[in-house]
Order: sequence, then structure tokens, then C-alpha cells
Amino acid sequence: MKTTIFKDERTLARTLAVQIAAALGPRPTSILGLPTGRTPIRLYRELGTLHAHAQADFSQATTFNLDEFLGIPPEHPGSYRSFMQEHLFSKVNLQPERINFLSGVAPDPDAECRRYEAAIEAAGGIDLQLLGIGTNGHIGFNEPARELAGPTHRVTLKASTRRANAALFGGDAEQVPREALSMGMATILHAKRIVLIATGKSKARCIARLVNGPITPKLPASFLQVHRDVELMLDAAAAEALAVRA
Ligand code: GLP
Repeated sequence: MKTTIFKDERTLARTLAVQIAAALGPRPTSILGLPTGRTPIRLYRELGTLHAHAQADFSQATTFNLDEFLGIPPEHPGSYRSFMQEHLFSKVNLQPERINFLSGVAPDPDAECRRYEAAIEAAGGIDLQLLGIGTNGHIGFNEPARELAGPTHRVTLKASTRRANAALFGGDAEQVPREALSMGMATILHAKRIVLIATGKSKARCIARLVNGPITPKLPASFLQVHRDVELMLDAAAAEALAVRA
């Protein structure tokens, strides 16, 4: 696993944005897997800036987001779809028909998960999967558990994850849905290349466990160890526990 440590969050976001824009040049039809959360906001801002300066063209790219809350329609201000609209989709020239999202209000959530898996496969698989990480080591909404489901599936959210997402629901964790739909670790590991970004001291412990610990469903991110093309992009604070160990 390659680890790159940046002096600050801004340099990390800028570097990754430039890399993504550069990759879209020779491969304009790239398929991108996208995360939500506080961490990628700067990256999305940088991509918007590059696009505004005609340095990033998303006109032929396709995106698949990692996850969505169950029971929340796309137009709800707390939905991940709204988050993406605000932070990225409204800032770049992605074609709406090439933006893919799990629907939180599909009548049959299990069928919706199967539809999503089939759509990723039909598109040719994800070329670059961007990831954040939860402080408990969750990826997407793959929460620590005794067993993990491989493909896209329905999940029950941990109280800590609902608290971490409270800002989307007026700061009230009780308003955060108890369930969500998420790509599974198998879906994620099928991506050709994976870049996980983590910033801040609160991520230092799970990053150290991800890099140095055993592969275990108690830390879903540890499964990234089996992928041949994973890069961790960290700021100094998130890399802190790695440095102490080295
Ligand atoms: C949510 C998302 C994850 C994300 C995590 C971390 O739970 N489902 O995909 O990685 O939050 O978010 P943050 O970047 O705000 O720490």
C-alpha cells in the first residue's frame, strides 16, 4: 500500500485534483467512484476550480457514489445526492445521465442494490475509487461487524456514524436515518485503482490500524490491504500514529 503524506489538507486536495484532471485527459470516459463526508469537500472544490479554468473536463466521465441513506429522497437536503450536487455536480460538467446514485427511496432496497451492482458492471467497472474513512474504520457505510457483506447491500448505521453525519440533518443525530445502502467491500475492491484520503488527528488511529493491523471485519478498511493499487493520501495529523510506530 502506497502512503503519501502531505503538509496540509489543501496541498493534498490540490495534488489529487490535478491528478484526477490529468487522468481524464487521455481517458475522458473514466468511471469514478465517489465518497461524501467532510474530507473530500476540499478536493471537490479544487476540481471545481480546475474545471472553471478549463483544466478538468468531466463531459464524458461517469460517476458512482458509494452510499445513500435509506428512506431519504434525492432532493432532501440531508441526502448524499444533495451533498454531491452542492459540492461537485453543480461545479463541473458531468452529464446528469452519467451520474449514478443508489436511491434511498427505491420500493425494494435489495433490488436497488442489485441494480447498482449491475450498473457498475455494465459500465465496465470503476477505474478510480476515491474513499474517505470513518473514525471506526468504516468505508462507505461498511460498518465494523463480525461479518461483512461483499456486494452493495442494506446496512444498519452505528450510533457513532449517525452522530458523525448529524450536520446533514440540522445537527440532530436522531434525524439521521438508521439504515443506508452502501457499496460493499467486494464492490470497492473490484475498482482498478483506489485512493483513500484522510485528514486530521481523529483519523490517525484507524489509519495506523489499516496499515499495520490484521485484516478484519472489525476494521472494514483493513480489507484494502489485499488490493494491488491502493494509495493512502494523508495529512500530517492523520499520519501521526504511523510516524510514531516507524
Ligand atoms: C460517512 C460516509 C463515508 C465517509 C465518512 C467519513 O459515514 N458514509 O463514506 O468516509 O463519513 O466522513 P468524514 O470525511 O466527514 O470524516
